[in-house]
Amino acid sequence: MEENLNKIKERLESQISKIQEMNDLDKFKSEILGKKGELTQILKNMKNYDENERRKVGKAVNDAKNNIEAKIEEKREIIKKIELSKRLEKIERIDFSLPVSDELGSLHPITVVQREIEEIFRTMGFTVEDGNEVETEYNNFEAVNVPKYHPARDMQDTYWLENGQLLKTQTSAAQNRIMKKYGAPLKAIFPGRCFRNESLDASHENTFFQLEGMMIDEDISVANLIYFMKTTLSEIFKKDLKVRLRPGFFPFVEPGFELDVSCMYCNGEGCKVCKHGGWIELCPCGLIHPNVLKMGGIDSEKYSGFAFGLGLSRLAMMKYGINDLRYLNSGDLRVLKQIGIR
Ligand code: DAH
Repeated sequence: MEENLNKIKERLESQISKIQEMNDLDKFKSEILGKKGELTQILKNMKNYDENERRKVGKAVNDAKNNIEAKIEEKREIIKKIELSKRLEKIERIDFSLPVSDELGSLHPITVVQREIEEIFRTMGFTVEDGNEVETEYNNFEAVNVPKYHPARDMQDTYWLENGQLLKTQTSAAQNRIMKKYGAPLKAIFPGRCFRNESLDASHENTFFQLEGMMIDEDISVANLIYFMKTTLSEIFKKDLKVRLRPGFFPFVEPGFELDVSCMYCNGEGCKVCKHGGWIELCPCGLIHPNVLKMGGIDSEKYSGFAFGLGLSRLAMMKYGINDLRYLNSGDLRVLKQIGIR
């Protein structure tokens, strides 16, 4: 019996040594060590042996099984190493001098517009700040003069976290933190991703981008606001645009405005884009409410300031003639190709 077992072991070992692929090794293992395997069969056929013999043979077969299993695992490590070196060899064979595919990625339209605006404001002495995406209720609402139960909250339903924080609904949420960080005087812009619980359509998305700005100093007035907005928007659209203000209500500014620009497509003469009015509503803004300055630790008797909230997504759509906001988050590469950004 022992002699027979040794022969089986030898044969199996030589079979293992010939295996090259991991799949074959797995197959071999389940066949040999499984129910129908040779060794298991020996155990099954021990009925005729006496008890002493059975114990001896049983032990010998189990030892043989363990031994074969160990050999299989040894082989597994060897195959792994071989596979790895084959893979590495392939990588090394990549010819880095070959021309690159021109299908490579590109900047997103929003990033392009954002960077352009950042550059314009930088040249006017503004710093570019980061805002959080997850915000406290205080920063997003209370600190910009929207207390609990204020009706303005209705328009900005959002996603709440279990810890009471929320996904910010507006870049204005960073105002308080920035005022506390720098004090007055201060000139900053802060682009960021905003979220609202909206029903989606061509001009509403649950995720969109804004770019907010604030300038605080002594004697800041509406004249400063008009100058900065006119300069920036004319730079963005590479045209000398006119701006006009209409009254608008936002709890964090007083007075508050809707800023319109003369239509960049027809120079104010009237076309489809401006619905034949010659003006396009572009940017809500105003003089920062004294309560907001105070909450930001700034002396509202000494300082005043303006703030504005540009819709970055909207701006990118206008610049590139995109007619559905949802394309911007779609990840569809054809959008980039069509608008010619590479
Ligand atoms: N946060 C406002 C919104 O998302 C936009 C806005 C309006 C920002 C007026 C401002 C501002 O800074 O002065 O609807």
